[in-house]
Amino acid sequence: MTEVTRAGSRRPSRLFVLTLGALLVMSCGAGSVSRATLGGEDGADLRSLLDFKRAITNDPRGALSAWNVSAHFCLWNGVRCSGRTRRVVALDLAGHGLSGQIAASLGNLSSLAALNLSTNGFSGPIPPHLGRLTELRSLDLSYNTLQGSIPGALTNCSILRTLNLSRNFLVGRIPAEIGRLSNLTSLSLRFNNLTGIIQPELCNATSLKELRLTYNNLGGSIPEGIGKLTELRTLSLTVNRISGGIPESLFNLSLLQLLSLTGNRLHGQLPPAIGHAFPNLQFLDLATNMFEGHVPASLGNLSSIQEMDLEKKIGLEGKSEFHLACFLTSFVWTWS
Ligand SMILES: *[C@@H]1O[C@H](CO)[C@@H](O)[C@H](O)[C@H]1NC(C)=O
Ligand SMILES: *[C@@H]1O[C@H](CO)[C@@H](O)[C@H](O)[C@H]1NC(C)=O
Ligand SMILES: *[C@@H]1O[C@H](CO)[C@@H](O)[C@H](O)[C@H]1NC(C)=O
Ligand SMILES: *[C@@H]1O[C@H](CO)[C@@H](O)[C@H](O)[C@H]1NC(C)=O
Ligand SMILES: *[C@@H]1O[C@H](CO)[C@@H](O)[C@H](O)[C@H]1NC(C)=O
Ligand SMILES: *[C@@H]1O[C@H](CO)[C@@H](O)[C@H](O)[C@H]1NC(C)=O
Ligand SMILES: *[C@@H]1O[C@H](CO)[C@@H](O)[C@H](O)[C@H]1NC(C)=O
Ligand SMILES: *[C@@H]1O[C@H](CO)[C@@H](O)[C@H](O)[C@H]1NC(C)=O
Ligand SMILES: *[C@@H]1O[C@H](CO)[C@@H](O)[C@H](O)[C@H]1NC(C)=O
Ligand SMILES: *[C@@H]1O[C@H](CO)[C@@H](O)[C@H](O)[C@H]1NC(C)=O
Repeated sequence: MTEVTRAGSRRPSRLFVLTLGALLVMSCGAGSVSRATLGGEDGADLRSLLDFKRAITNDPRGALSAWNVSAHFCLWNGVRCSGRTRRVVALDLAGHGLSGQIAASLGNLSSLAALNLSTNGFSGPIPPHLGRLTELRSLDLSYNTLQGSIPGALTNCSILRTLNLSRNFLVGRIPAEIGRLSNLTSLSLRFNNLTGIIQPELCNATSLKELRLTYNNLGGSIPEGIGKLTELRTLSLTVNRISGGIPESLFNLSLLQLLSLTGNRLHGQLPPAIGHAFPNLQFLDLATNMFEGHVPASLGNLSSIQEMDLEKKIGLEGKSEFHLACFLTSFVWTWS
């Protein structure tokens, strides 16, 4: 009885397979193997790419001039597909002088792993629909003229590794949800006009190796949780309005190669042990803050240092003067 039922239920599916086969043969017969049609999943990719092209108002070098249905979109300039599924996995149109808005329909490229629209003239907002790209690992929209705030929905791209939105006109807060991006290794928001504070939640993104918030309008203090970001190699908070002291936990970041806090409102004394905390430090910029006291002698122990920029008004401790003098010849020393 069960057997009969199973056999019976199998028949329609076989019929379906046959029909599909016939359709495939028909479409091959029509000579369109190298084209995508508007149906199916690659059809969705085709539609969103055409929609993206439609939103581009200026293409001075003709980067998209061959984006038409006479060739499969996998062959279009800047598009990379998976060989197996023929879905779009990467879109790289950096540096083509394109302008216009970024079409929300890019969020329909559901297999997209890398999107690079850097160094163009894209304006308008970052579409929150990009948050639908759950396969996205790298998003680079840097060097454009994008406006508005950073959509919190971007943090739905849960396996994101690289997020670069630097050099735009973005305003508002850094979404706290970015801290949920456990795979994020690089976050660059340099040269925007972001306000608010560095939220403690951001320190949950413990894979971060690079955190660049240079040239914004961020206030508040450096969160104590910064010490959780033990993978950090680069920490730049240069030119913001950050106040308070340097939290003790910062000295846990022993892999740091670049630490730049220049141009903020930080105060307090530099901890005596600062030079022992960062054996890999190459660049240390602390100038134009409100630090007091002396340059700790231990700075003479920063054996990898190449460049150091400290505050003019804090004096050198006698001992460090001696140590620093020993290697002044091999690195750049700036009093600013
Ligand atoms: C993108 O997907 C949405 C929702 O599925 C749909 O309404 C819209 O028409 C699609 N846009 C394009 C250009 O395919
Ligand atoms: C369509 O793209 C092909 C290259 O794939 C190009 O030679 C052709 O000029 C394009 N046609 C139109 C109408 O833009
Ligand atoms: C995006 O493209 C630019 C220009 O080719 C390149 O410099 C940059 O590294 C790319 N971004 C990413 C995240 O690979
Ligand atoms: C992001 O995820 C939240 C919660 O799962 C959902 O409500 C929201 O619609 C998503 N946004 C986008 C743009 O996918
Ligand atoms: C954006 O940042 C990523 C990660 O640091 C970097 O690989 C990429 O080159 C940057 N893009 C540009 C245009 O510099
Ligand atoms: C993301 O990180 C988790 C651990 O936090 C890891 O298991 C997973 O493989 C990573 N995913 C990708 C796509 O790298
Ligand atoms: C940045 O934002 C602040 C506060 O919203 C505003 O006063 C300032 O003019 C903005 N600066 C730029 C360069 O847009
Ligand atoms: C993220 O950070 C906040 C504040 O630091 C903390 O309360 C919360 O438990 C953290 N969440 C996770 C998932 O680690
Ligand atoms: C810093 O490291 C010390 C031990 O090296 C540990 O006790 C402390 O909890 C760490 N602090 C933070 C904020 O991670
Ligand atoms: C670190 O500096 C101290 C003096 O501040 C010195 O006695 C010590 O030898 C130095 N250690 C290294 C590894 O350079």
